[in-house]
Amino acid sequence: MLAIPRGFPRKGYDWRDVLAELYERFMHEPKHLVNHIIGSMTTRPHPLSIEAYKLFMFFNANDPLVFKETSRLESEVIEMLGEILGGRNVSGIITTGGTEANISAIYLAREHGYENVYVPLTAHNSIRKAVHLLRVRGIDVKVDEEFHVDLDDLERKLEEHGPGVIVLTAGTTGFGTVDNVEEASKIASRHNSVIHVDAAFGGFIIPFLREKGYRLPDIGFRNRAVVSVTIDPHKLGLAPIPSGGLVVRSSEWFKPLIFESKYMPMGYQVGLGGTRTGGSIAATWAMLKHFGWEGYSRLAVELMEKTLKVAEEVGKRDSLRLVVKPETPILCIDVKGVEARLVLEKAWGMGWYPYHCGLVDGVRIVVMPHVGLDELLEFIEVLESIARSIKRGST
Ligand SMILES: Cc1ncc(COP(=O)(O)O)c(C=O)c1O
Repeated sequence: MLAIPRGFPRKGYDWRDVLAELYERFMHEPKHLVNHIIGSMTTRPHPLSIEAYKLFMFFNANDPLVFKETSRLESEVIEMLGEILGGRNVSGIITTGGTEANISAIYLAREHGYENVYVPLTAHNSIRKAVHLLRVRGIDVKVDEEFHVDLDDLERKLEEHGPGVIVLTAGTTGFGTVDNVEEASKIASRHNSVIHVDAAFGGFIIPFLREKGYRLPDIGFRNRAVVSVTIDPHKLGLAPIPSGGLVVRSSEWFKPLIFESKYMPMGYQVGLGGTRTGGSIAATWAMLKHFGWEGYSRLAVELMEKTLKVAEEVGKRDSLRLVVKPETPILCIDVKGVEARLVLEKAWGMGWYPYHCGLVDGVRIVVMPHVGLDELLEFIEVLESIARSIKRGST
């Protein structure tokens, strides 16, 4: 029972009462480590990143003259993210998340003269949001049966509409699939176009899986046409929300994100936002230094092995079908003959929180670091029993 009523009080409450109310509300929220949050791309951040966040959360990264150390940390973070993505002398910014990073990337492309935006059907909605906000020309591109960008359709569209920025996704939101950046880069170069890679989800896993022998394309700057990459520390980087990342090929490409601002000590300001917490930057720096390449590599393999075991289990069940073989730790499951919306309704009522796959009618599971294998195997049973009960109810 909540003690503090809605609305802005004329007389404020004692801080103990305020805190007690928040604790009460906290208790009602599902927790990553306790409840079954199996469909979200959020996770419980690493304790070190929470400490780092708390240390730097009051410092404004928007003011690098006053908060010099925060600014130095950010440039180190961007350099390290660039290394993960095979880039040298990259530039970039820590953002509030993948959405801001994607909008910034489309903005940069537009400012460099690329007003056609090629958008595969699997692209995250933030890309369409960017197209709408920036009043550029969005051109739909088909995807193939395995939810990768259809390269033939891409080339046809480029021939028809001319040069532009091609958006590719490395770890699609609904399926975890990875667009063939390598081949698309060759096509882009033939058509005087550039590529933005949305690796908001896959950026912290694909380069590591590739090194371990998983058959995935290179998603980064070794591909000539790639000018920018979104990579989110608050997803698989284990940093707290809000920590997104945009890495761009060069400081020249980044320039349009520098805006004049006469009142700021530098006389200019960087990025689409304004005041930015140093917390996200310090947290990401701490994770990158603590995990290192080997740590993220171990995590990547662990998550992928879990995902493939669950996929195998789904394959054994008559009532379930894997929509596509997982390439990153995301599963989209078709509960045969039952609408995913009905399955989700029942599952949520039972304290399991999967999502919808979006583009097709299926149940999405994201195998984030807090999600256990036993928990997922149990959920497969739950899915089957939900399917049975819905089918019984409808006959
Ligand atoms: C591929 C992809 N890009 C971008 C985003 C947006 O990220 P955010 O929610 O951090 O803005 C998401 C979120 O799920 C995503 O899956």
